[in-house]
Amino acid sequence: MSARADASAVALRRRLADLLRADGDLRTAPWRHAVERVPRERFLGGRVYRRVDGPGGTLWEPVTPAEVGQARWLELAYENTTWVTQLDGRYREDAQPTQGTPTSSSTLPGLVVSMLEDLAVDDGDRVLEVGTGTGYSTALLCRRLGDDLVTSIEIDPSIAARAAQALGAAGYAPTLAIGDGLRGHRARAPYDRIIATCSVRTVPATWLAQTSTGGRILVTLSGWLYGSGLVTLEVTGGGHAHGRFLPGTVSFMPARAHAAPPLSDLPARGGEQRPARYGPGILDDWMGRFLAQLAAPTASRRMRVTDGNGGQAAELLFDHATGSYAWLSPVGEGWTVTQDGPVRLWDRIEQTVSAWHDADGPAQHEFTLTISPDTQTVHLPTSGTSLTWTLPPQGNRRLDGHRRRRPPRPAR
Ligand SMILES: C[S@@+](CC[C@H](N)C(=O)[O-])C[C@H]1O[C@@H](n2cnc3c(N)ncnc32)[C@H](O)[C@@H]1O
Repeated sequence: MSARADASAVALRRRLADLLRADGDLRTAPWRHAVERVPRERFLGGRVYRRVDGPGGTLWEPVTPAEVGQARWLELAYENTTWVTQLDGRYREDAQPTQGTPTSSSTLPGLVVSMLEDLAVDDGDRVLEVGTGTGYSTALLCRRLGDDLVTSIEIDPSIAARAAQALGAAGYAPTLAIGDGLRGHRARAPYDRIIATCSVRTVPATWLAQTSTGGRILVTLSGWLYGSGLVTLEVTGGGHAHGRFLPGTVSFMPARAHAAPPLSDLPARGGEQRPARYGPGILDDWMGRFLAQLAAPTASRRMRVTDGNGGQAAELLFDHATGSYAWLSPVGEGWTVTQDGPVRLWDRIEQTVSAWHDADGPAQHEFTLTISPDTQTVHLPTSGTSLTWTLPPQGNRRLDGHRRRRPPRPAR
């Protein structure tokens, strides 16, 4: 990099740090120091993707230094933006906006820094990061704690190789592992802190086993209804931990084994029918999705079917553990629900949403999470009856503890 570009990167890092401080994400001097030193541009590779609206939905527009010029590329690197770096599990050479599912990114710097602050590290803490990605957040950890105390694990070897190269070029040498971070990384355990930059449906027991007593785990819980919430947990030993959800609307791409399973055959719309108290619109709301997922932790929202007249779409929720389903169909101003299978999915979701309303709609950060070797429960202390939900069973496989079911009847 030329001396001019170097000076401009220094200024851009300082500006980013000022912005993150003004937003309340950057709160302490050591992390400010790290943000002002780590060159994010080195971690973006030569191509990032910007989300754009296409005729058939979301498209990903490639952005490269050759196209925008080096000076603009540098500015983009220091925007408080998530830059998608990989689609569909591979690095591609697209020149035009393209469809795809993001599978790696350089996370929003504001979120990276805010999580690092929430991790509450002390000098000398040993940290495991799950989801190395580009390596930018790994570099911040190295800058703050020193290379020897930082371990980062990435499941995708091609992503891990790029991160290793970028970290080395920027002068950092953490321990990098390739593998399924849901198993932690035993060779370097115990850790004082574990931070995950991919989301999980259930906190892996291995993470608790590899965290020292009194240590902390910071992870985003998510699921197949796209409910999401960042949790900080204190590990109390013997497979136990307790913690709470943090304020904000944090979401991460799911850990690869925790992504929603495919559903090829659609169930027919037979079953018990009744007027619905709530329509599927509750799933478009942050708290609605979170509550629905607590109530139906193995269900996913699969299908919107329009009547072709521009009316509202019918929607399907399908429970992958039991094969139960709920079809929601628009009727006049309201909705009808048709349910079949061992679990009345929409009944459960409506009960949870109603109970939350009855408790005056508490914010997500009032929910807590308690983990024991047998179960993981989300809890909402209310003035009346307290509310509790159980997270899906442990394990890396999508439906551990459940037999995967096919839908009961194929769609016509
Ligand atoms: C949002 S990106 C990480 C962003 C990174 N912190 C950064 O700022 O560049 C999430 C990463 O988690 C990785 N990942 C997904 N599932 C994983 C797993 N089971 N174990 C380890 N890494 C995983 C993905 O391949 C992806 O690179």
